[in-house]
Order: sequence, then structure tokens, then C-alpha cells
Amino acid sequence: MARNKVTVIGAGNVGATTAQRIAEASLADVVLVDIVEGLPQGKGLDLAEAAPMIGHDARILGTNDYADTAGSDIVVVTSGLARQPGMSRDDLLAKNAGIVRSVVEQAVRHSPHAILIVVTNPLDAMCQVAFAEAKLPRERVIGMAGVLDSARFRTFLAWELGVSVRDVTGFVLGGHGDQMVPVTSYTNVAGIPITDLIGEERLAEIVQRTRDGGAEVVKLLKSGSAYYAPSASVAEMVDSIVHDQKRVLPCAAYLTGEFGLNGIFMGVPCRLGAGGLEEIIKLNLTDDEQAQLNRSAEAVRELVGIMGL
Ligand code: APR
Repeated sequence: MARNKVTVIGAGNVGATTAQRIAEASLADVVLVDIVEGLPQGKGLDLAEAAPMIGHDARILGTNDYADTAGSDIVVVTSGLARQPGMSRDDLLAKNAGIVRSVVEQAVRHSPHAILIVVTNPLDAMCQVAFAEAKLPRERVIGMAGVLDSARFRTFLAWELGVSVRDVTGFVLGGHGDQMVPVTSYTNVAGIPITDLIGEERLAEIVQRTRDGGAEVVKLLKSGSAYYAPSASVAEMVDSIVHDQKRVLPCAAYLTGEFGLNGIFMGVPCRLGAGGLEEIIKLNLTDDEQAQLNRSAEAVRELVGIMGL
């Protein structure tokens, strides 16, 4: 069986940790790309030299040359500037749009059959930039945000109840911004509705902490933003695609009428398999949740509008 090949663009915190997770879980061979000379080569070499202890055979190559990425099955885009304290995801817009446009053009030229996973923020807007530049079908341009936001939500709920995170199911929809929508009506612990277990007020606090989850880490780190949980989120998506697992994961997808929204990327429940985005799963939201989703969509549209897309 041919080995899978995943290119990770951006050898910073998110990119390098993503490369590590993919290689160490033997999901694929990894090509790590960055614009800075020596950075991907050094991190790639260091990661490769950890293989004897971890016991994996994935090949890891660090490079500045897109020719090395040719024939990738998946391309993960993490290149860009990370958020600094006090800087909103939206402040990053123009700078990261230029970076995403340029790396996607080069990556797709060498891997026309790849599935793109976009991680660079502001996420939903960067997905739109990648989608416009790549000219790939929507099945092959997917954004990582919902898995991360949902993981934060699940973590806080598990702490609150003193239960295993594995038993907490729940998801966050909408844009990866302050308007994201943790969907409490579909959140449960081993099938028990969360609203049976946590009072309304406390649940609202946990929802708010989830919305502020990225900023909470930025504030503590003081320079840079989260990368352990973001990279774990990407690895989960890659796993579902390379092993055709058909996981149902919240991801940013290009909507063509689903949830009453059209022509933008938003976080929705997606079935991920070998074909990339294989299905957007529809659900019945409460009126309040739909209204929140609409507000989140407006925020995404505003950013997309600023970019003239
Ligand atoms: N081509 C390739 N790599 C680039 C380019 C480019 N044109 N421009 C910047 N990079 C690289 C940088 O050199 C750097 O190594 O992207 C990397 C970004 O790494 P970090 O600054 O460590 O940022 P990180 O924490 O990894 O976050 C990356 O993911 O979660 C999002 O908001 C986050 O948008 C940010 C992205």
C-alpha cells in the first residue's frame, strides 16, 4: 500500500507540532515547509531523530521548496502570523490573506489532488481565500476550528462534572470567532443531556469560557497562541481522512444553502473520509441557536467583504 503524504506549511508552533503528531501516530510521511531558510529543515531533522524512541517509520522532510511537496494527499496550511496579546483574530486578516494565497497557489500546483486543511486565522476568512485561490471543489477545502472549539467546550464540561472527557460529546458551530455557537441542545454526557446536569447559569459561563478559549491561552503565553490542542485537532481530521473513518467532526465548510447560509465558510458538522468533506450533516437548531449562527455568519461575511472576495 502506498504511504500517505501530508504537507504541513508553516513550521512554527502549530505546524511543527502537527507534523510531530502526524508522524508519531504513523498517519503519513510528512513534508514540513516554511519560508524561513533552515527552520523546517532543522525541525524536520529533529523530529526524524525522535523516531527510534517513538518507534515509527514515517519519513519527515523539512524544506523551503514546494517541489518536495509534490503528490501530497493532504496539505495543512498553518503559515501566517499568530495572534499577539490584545490582537483579535480579525486584525490578522490582510497579512495572513496574502500568505495563504501564495502558499495555496504553490501547494496546489504541485499537489492538484490534495485535500486542503486550513488552520491559519482568522479561520473562516482564510478558508475562503484558500478556496478562491485553489479552485478545488468544496469537498477538498476544509477548515480546522470546530474540533478545537468543541474540544475546549468538552474539556471544561468534563472538569465541571468530574467525568472523563471521552464521555462528553458536544460541538461548537459557526465562525471561529467571538460569535461561535456552542450548541448546548446537542451536548451530552454518555447520552445524558448536558442541561440535565448543569444549571443554566453555570452552563452559560462555560459557553463563554469556550468562546474566549483561544484568547485565554494567548493571555497566559503572552507571545504566541495555542498549538497543542490545535495540532491535535488537525491530527484527528487527518486520521479520519487517511483512514476513511467517516468521523463526524465540526469543521469549517463552504456552505451552499445548508443552515440557511450560502457562499461562506462556517463551522458545521461534517463527515470526513477519503473524499474529504463527504457530507454536511443537518440538524434542528433552536431559534436562538439559529439566530446566533446567523450573527456569526454576519461576522464572517464582514471579513470576507473587507478582503473583496
Ligand atoms: N510561507 C511559508 N511559511 C510562512 C510564510 C509563507 N509565506 N509566512 C509565514 N510563514 C511561517 C513563519 O515563518 C512561521 O514559522 O509560518 C509560521 C507560523 O508559525 P508561528 O508564528 O509559530 O504561528 P503558529 O502559532 O504556528 O500559528 C500559525 O495558526 O492557529 C493559527 O492563529 C494561528 O494563524 C496562526 C497560525
